[in-house]
Amino acid sequence: MWHPDPDLRRSTLGLIQGEKNLIANLSNISAVIYHTLPDLNWAGFYMWDKKHQELVLGPFQGKPACLRIKANRGVCGAAYTTQKTQCVADVHAFPGHIACDAASRSEVVVPLMWQGQCVGVLDLDSPTLNRFTLAEAQFLEDLMKEIMPLIWEGRES
Ligand code: SME
Repeated sequence: MWHPDPDLRRSTLGLIQGEKNLIANLSNISAVIYHTLPDLNWAGFYMWDKKHQELVLGPFQGKPACLRIKANRGVCGAAYTTQKTQCVADVHAFPGHIACDAASRSEVVVPLMWQGQCVGVLDLDSPTLNRFTLAEAQFLEDLMKEIMPLIWEGRES
């Protein structure tokens, strides 16, 4: 059973401290999550592309993934559209789930909110059915809420 991880919070805050480059920060955040939380096969970001009105792949760890996701597609699109964290116990039971890595069985997607708008999502995949607890999803949501002002305001890319 997973427990909220104070070390992950501390490491994440430490990694982004003093850095304004968004790609650098998202890269290290995906890496620290991927290497800290057990039983993941993918961890990364999709960011909202205003020009094309869809999510586009951002920094991640794991196998190469779908480049672009429409707002009405998949678990990522659902998180973007509803602006609510999606915790999916069985991705095969989720209508419209996009299988980037066939090994993925469960998924959590957290919207990145800035001034009331969703600007991207954090996406974690696991090869284990029902891998993510609601407590863990809440922890990730709180962590993203805490870091958004630090990585978004005054960002340099
Ligand atoms: N499964 C996601 C697509 C992204 S990959 O998991 C990395 C979805 O259904 O939106």
